[in-house]
Amino acid sequence: MQSVGIKGLGYYVPENIVTNFDLEKVVDTSDEWIRTRTGIEERRFAAEDEATSDLGYKAAIKAIENAKIDIQEIGLIIVATATADYLTQPTACLIQKKLGLSKIPCFDVGAACTGFIYALTVANSMIKTKLFKNILVIGAETLSRIADMKDRNTCVLFGDGAAAAVVGNVEEGYGILSVSIGAEGEDDMVLKIPAGGSKFPNNERTIENRENFLKMNGQEVFKFAVKVLPKVTLEALNQAEMKVDDLSMIFPHQANLRIIEAASKRIDFPLEKFYVNLNKYGNTSAASIGIALGEALEKGLIKKGDNIALTGFGGGLTYGSIVMKWAY
Ligand code: ACO
Repeated sequence: MQSVGIKGLGYYVPENIVTNFDLEKVVDTSDEWIRTRTGIEERRFAAEDEATSDLGYKAAIKAIENAKIDIQEIGLIIVATATADYLTQPTACLIQKKLGLSKIPCFDVGAACTGFIYALTVANSMIKTKLFKNILVIGAETLSRIADMKDRNTCVLFGDGAAAAVVGNVEEGYGILSVSIGAEGEDDMVLKIPAGGSKFPNNERTIENRENFLKMNGQEVFKFAVKVLPKVTLEALNQAEMKVDDLSMIFPHQANLRIIEAASKRIDFPLEKFYVNLNKYGNTSAASIGIALGEALEKGLIKKGDNIALTGFGGGLTYGSIVMKWAY
């Protein structure tokens, strides 16, 4: 069976930088609290006229350029997002239109912060089964639109951004070596926007109670993340018949530095080898792992043949990890 992997990657973050000091003016918080509890120093917020599809489109253009393929060679677009432009229309269709592509299939994947891993997993299978040759996988978010700027428990954590990967056949033995994905379904308000869906459509009461914004039980998410990040990374490594020492780097979902520190201790893998950029972007959900990869590539931190793991966790609760041998 031919190997499948990432052939080109691109990312985009909005220009507007919002520092912890800026947020001190909005809610009762402090730079010190945010930095010491999360590691976040600043994040990007999309401009008023920028939606998730705009960020995703900009990342996609760069990914296609880096993959050095003709845009017409893209056979399918998958967008991982928790902040679609519209509730009913796939954001992937909006990006298809912006890219000037027509007819190719498009759909969104809803797996919250694990979305990029889930979408890569789907793309991997669809290429292995020869349904498509090149699939554009995009993780894009405008979390600033669903963050409650009156709730200090959540609004300091999130940022906006996008990353895109062209997934296709790569040199034999390179690319995706193993995948492990899972979920622990819950409906106890650990991490969701309570209203605006089919269960509780928005009305005056939900708006008044600010139930149209993201609510999170931070401690529950923290416990879950500290448990699953090491577990699912090791599962993916086992499947690839590799040990953690075979990895040159791990790209975790960028939610909280303390989660990454705990994972580093649990799997005995040095913290310096976990790529961390949450200090600059906060938690960009489905975009975070791709943005981290894109930055590391720009800095020359990943070389052809490096073994890396991408590991995500998030709402659902979902989790997943992919081990790959970098293909270019
Ligand atoms: N500024 C100042 N004080 C704050 C802030 C803030 N921004 N937010 C909360 N506090 C206060 C709380 O009100 C509380 O005060 P109290 O003791 O007087 O009640 C105190 O700080 C401690 O609150 P905790 O929630 O216990 O703080 P904790 O150390 O657990 O940190 C945090 C909270 C950062 C959210 C942490 O639980 C966490 O990182 N959880 C993981 C959640 C996560 O990563 N979410 C990202 C989204 S999940 C995903 O990526 C899909």
